[in-house]
Amino acid sequence: MVKRLFRRKVFQHLLEEIDMEQHRLQRSLNAFDLTILGIGAIIGVGIFVLTGTAAARFAGPGIILSLCISAGACFFTAFCYAEFASLMPAAGSAYNYAYATMGEMIAWVIGWDLILEYIVASIAVAIGWSGYFVNIMQAIGITIPVWCSNAPGTVPGALINLPAMLVVLCLTAILIVGIKESARFTSIMVFVKLITVVIFIAVGCFNIKPVNWVPFLPFGFKGVMTAAAIIFFAYIGFDAISTAAEETKNPQRNMPIGIILSLTICTVLYILVAAILTGMVSYKELNHPAPVAHALNLLGFRWGSALVSVGAVAGITSVLLVMLMGQPRVFFAMSRDGLLWPWISKVHPRFRTPYRAQLLTGAVVAAFAGFLDIGTAAELCNIGTLFAFCIVCGGIAILRRTHPDLKRSFSCPLVPLIPLLGISFCAGLMLSLPRITWIRFALWLIIGLFIYFFYGIKHSRMARNESSCDISL
Ligand code: ALA
Repeated sequence: MVKRLFRRKVFQHLLEEIDMEQHRLQRSLNAFDLTILGIGAIIGVGIFVLTGTAAARFAGPGIILSLCISAGACFFTAFCYAEFASLMPAAGSAYNYAYATMGEMIAWVIGWDLILEYIVASIAVAIGWSGYFVNIMQAIGITIPVWCSNAPGTVPGALINLPAMLVVLCLTAILIVGIKESARFTSIMVFVKLITVVIFIAVGCFNIKPVNWVPFLPFGFKGVMTAAAIIFFAYIGFDAISTAAEETKNPQRNMPIGIILSLTICTVLYILVAAILTGMVSYKELNHPAPVAHALNLLGFRWGSALVSVGAVAGITSVLLVMLMGQPRVFFAMSRDGLLWPWISKVHPRFRTPYRAQLLTGAVVAAFAGFLDIGTAAELCNIGTLFAFCIVCGGIAILRRTHPDLKRSFSCPLVPLIPLLGISFCAGLMLSLPRITWIRFALWLIIGLFIYFFYGIKHSRMARNESSCDISL
């Protein structure tokens, strides 16, 4: 029994199965597409909303430090992701990495955890999108009634968040038609949001009053850590690139470039935006649903404020697109292994996309986005992602011991130092999250383990073909 829980995929089999004809996804993405996909997934609600609110409530101008701490956790993990993604270009990313290094049960836990990450991130982002969309509509004279644009319990009279639901369903349709088309759509959105961020930086840097940076840590270091655990949401997304590995040309080269380049570009932009934002106005002014636009408004740049709102909607749309795309690829990988029902892994005969998993994801996300509040979803997303990051870092350290001779086209430097630093940073951020988030996360994992013991362990492809797995402990 214990051996079954720790049976591992054999590397060679993993690579062979990726090539199996009936499951082959179309390989069409290059390094540039991946970097764009990464930026598309990363810059969104985090920078446009959470930087301001976390500065106002927890860190003050020290939000710049919070961003650096979260970035540290992400960079250490990104090197580990890059090595895995170049070694094992398989849909399902961290789930597959764990399957080959730590065994089936941990792989299940990670797959289940990634389902949580992508679903709740998509829900949070769709709700954030709806807020900005309603604002823009209002600015051009179209008022969307409160009852159909907010989740029940968030504002009086609210019944359902229809814009959040509709945007999820539209993007689901785009994703089913094909990943290349989706990548093109994302490129346009990414371009718009990059221009928006650059214009904000260009305008803002001439309007900094250094007095706003004093005191730098009004809530002490504890506040900086609390804000870091929240602002971590801003970086989520670079890991989603690795879920597109099976659709990438020459993934051994392109995956590491896409992951590390997109994270670097976003980190630089975030630190600049946070420094400028807290330098333009007092951090106390930033507790607003649209802090970046609000700060421009306060300084009299009304055109800039409107522009940022439009850019934010474009930015958040592309984040949602990539999050919605990542989720079905985890489903796809798990069902291909027999841990989830097989009908999910069917690829569309014409579009070559995992359309059933995509539809299921779209339906679940749309249903919850209509009725949930953004805060609950974002916190849960962070804890799930940090946990997955710890496993990925641990996996690289294990792999160096178990498979030292594998041909690595990209190697994480300084193993095990970098993976250990990644684990320490991620664990530190997890410990800064509230207790209720831990309880919700534990419940999710317990439900997942029940499903595994009642379904996955029996239907696993490894169970049917014991010879194809590595069961040494
Ligand atoms: N990093 C993404 C965002 O900030 C999830 O919206």
